[in-house]
Amino acid sequence: MAEKHLLEIKNLTIHYQTDYGTVHAVEGFNLEVGNGETLGLVGETGAGKTTTAFGIMQLLPEPAGKVVAGEIYFRGENLLGKSKTEMKKILGKQIAMIFQDPMTSLNPVMTVGAQIEEMIKLHEPGTKEEIKEKAKKMLEVVGIPAVRQDEYPHQFSGGMKQRVVIAIALSCNPMLLIADEPTTALDVTIQAQVLDLMKKLKDDFKTSMIMITHDLGVVAEICDKVAIMYGGKVVEYATKESLYTKPYHPYTVGLFNSIPDLDSEQDRLNVIDGLPPDPTDMPSGCSFHPRCPHKMPICSQKSPSKVVVGSEHHVYCYLYEQEGAL
Ligand SMILES: Nc1ncnc2c1ncn2[C@@H]1O[C@H](COP(=O)(O)OP(=O)(O)OP(=O)(O)O)[C@@H](O)[C@H]1O
Ligand SMILES: [Mg+2]
Repeated sequence: MAEKHLLEIKNLTIHYQTDYGTVHAVEGFNLEVGNGETLGLVGETGAGKTTTAFGIMQLLPEPAGKVVAGEIYFRGENLLGKSKTEMKKILGKQIAMIFQDPMTSLNPVMTVGAQIEEMIKLHEPGTKEEIKEKAKKMLEVVGIPAVRQDEYPHQFSGGMKQRVVIAIALSCNPMLLIADEPTTALDVTIQAQVLDLMKKLKDDFKTSMIMITHDLGVVAEICDKVAIMYGGKVVEYATKESLYTKPYHPYTVGLFNSIPDLDSEQDRLNVIDGLPPDPTDMPSGCSFHPRCPHKMPICSQKSPSKVVVGSEHHVYCYLYEQEGAL
């Protein structure tokens, strides 16, 4: 396969088997990420964002979570065909992940310096001194004084812990960094600092990123491309500029309308009516149809196909199928 994209996901479908039925967490998910690109993966709670990330990393909880269909090409090779040992070599070195809660990734009984060194050692040969030097440098890259390398995670604030996690993730210079709501657990000022840091890393290291978020503000700050996810699939994909100029999918339009507008007199946000779909009992056709203000009879009968609405902008919605080239 030609290596057109760094990552190319085709028809990814992930289910969880539970006592209350099969959870259709990710269903026919398609996505591409180019070299050096930052893609925002946006959607409300339960849309399947974290499951998609775990699917790419092959870290789905076993035995409940399973990829039941699809392909995940990374640098032209299907990750789903790889063994656990082969995947271990790829994770960290080529693909790294930052989790929402920094304590998920930090070891409370190991100094932060040692944790960064451990990651470097795993992937890069070097003498003890070289590895220690590199770890110190990584701490400084994320704005933590190297003298703090011998401290333990509990001695750091939430924002600093998340920076340590970023330092660990970046210490092997991965080609792809998947960040799952890296700023959600942090307060607003710290959020801004961590975002600034990620922006800087993107510029300095040219790392490709998937930034998972609920927040269109975060996307505006840092992303080049945006994929809007609903009910386990991507319903709209575009460059940031194109999406912010004209969102097409009624769900995307709803998301934009629910951003608070400080200049308006309105005292209530326009929330999207209705609830996210029940993943054990997905609606037929377009899974957004029960909540859609523009619903037509066809919407509940058949899943919409991809409609190209602009250069690097496509949407899965019947409203645009008739209009041809827009
Ligand atoms: N281990 C699990 N077992 C069963 N169902 C799960 C499991 N993990 C996630 N799910 C279900 O899969 C669906 C997708 O969950 P996921 O965590 O991927 O959503 P998300 O988009 O990351 O949401 P959030 O924004 O809240 O983090 C949800 O319905 C969730 O309840
Ligand atoms: Mg999540």
